[in-house]
Amino acid sequence: MLSLLPEMAHLIDRYPDGTDALHLRFRLANGVRWQAQSGQFFMLSVMGIGEAAFTFVSLPNEDGEFSALVRNVGHLTAALFKLPVGSVVGVRGALGQAWPTLENKSVLVIAGGCGLAPLASWLDLRLQQENQQTVLLYSVKNNDSQILAQERLAWQHQNLTMLMVEDDPTWLIAEQLAQATGKRLDAALALLPDPPQAVLTCGPEAMMLAVGEMLRQRGVAPEHIYLSLERRMHCGVGLCGHCYLGSSLVCKEGTVFDLSRVQALLAQQLPSEAVWQHC
Ligand SMILES: Cc1cc2nc3c(=O)[nH]c(=O)nc-3n(C[C@H](O)[C@H](O)[C@H](O)COP(=O)(O)OP(=O)(O)OC[C@H]3O[C@@H](n4cnc5c(N)ncnc54)[C@H](O)[C@@H]3O)c2cc1C
Ligand code: FES
Repeated sequence: MLSLLPEMAHLIDRYPDGTDALHLRFRLANGVRWQAQSGQFFMLSVMGIGEAAFTFVSLPNEDGEFSALVRNVGHLTAALFKLPVGSVVGVRGALGQAWPTLENKSVLVIAGGCGLAPLASWLDLRLQQENQQTVLLYSVKNNDSQILAQERLAWQHQNLTMLMVEDDPTWLIAEQLAQATGKRLDAALALLPDPPQAVLTCGPEAMMLAVGEMLRQRGVAPEHIYLSLERRMHCGVGLCGHCYLGSSLVCKEGTVFDLSRVQALLAQQLPSEAVWQHC
């Protein structure tokens, strides 16, 4: 039966990781264990404050430990930033759909800013398999806003091909930004022998849609381009309707969609519906 009651988890580690962002590690209490897949999310509640959605950076292990990257943007995250190690929080999960595994396919992974967080566990698992062609294009506003320093170092040691770029969209007009993005994309594509068989991307929604269109123009089918979308979520399990995108409940059917599905859902929306860009 569907339960909205949170499990208890202890905060067991915390450290700064990027501008105004913390890496938090939790352990599920009472012997509870979760099966989660890369790309899924969980709801986290701080008692007396509220609840919000967060992505797994590392998936729950056999000891019930998992981690998340949290940006300080409002009430709940500000409270999380003040929690000392040992504190108890509530967690519900794992929720939503996972990234496809794409075994033996060549994959381009494109992350913008803190959009790297939902891709981290997918990359960890991918690098445990042999001979998987993978390129990571990671774009940030500036050096300080890079996240997951420890994970990126580990991936470097595991010989992941990474292209890091700094692009601050605030200083570029739309045309310059499109040109710069196209060049970065071509540089990343040149690191693979052929066009990728699949692309995974996560970052600001406008970035993902623009990059998706550029990839389509470069011969990658929209059905092979996967995006992770964020919408304001309350229940996380398809009951409250806060996360509707067109006819789809993003918390249940997503947050991972392929580009053709996203374009169809966006076309169902009224023109006035705002698209929220997270970071
Ligand atoms: C599936 C999913 C995964 C997420 N993963 C992460 C993660 O790994 N790390 C992380 O730091 N954040 C993540 N978020 C975002 C996080 O849930 C929100 O930022 C949350 O609102 C923070 O709560 P708060 O009380 O601190 O801020 P709030 O006080 O709720 O919000 C701060 C500001 O952001 C706006 N806002 C917040 N969420 C949304 C939204 N979805 N749509 C439109 N406006 C919004 C509010 O209007 C307000 O202006 C995720 C969101 C989703 C839906
Ligand atoms: S968050 Fe409630 S239906 Fe999706």
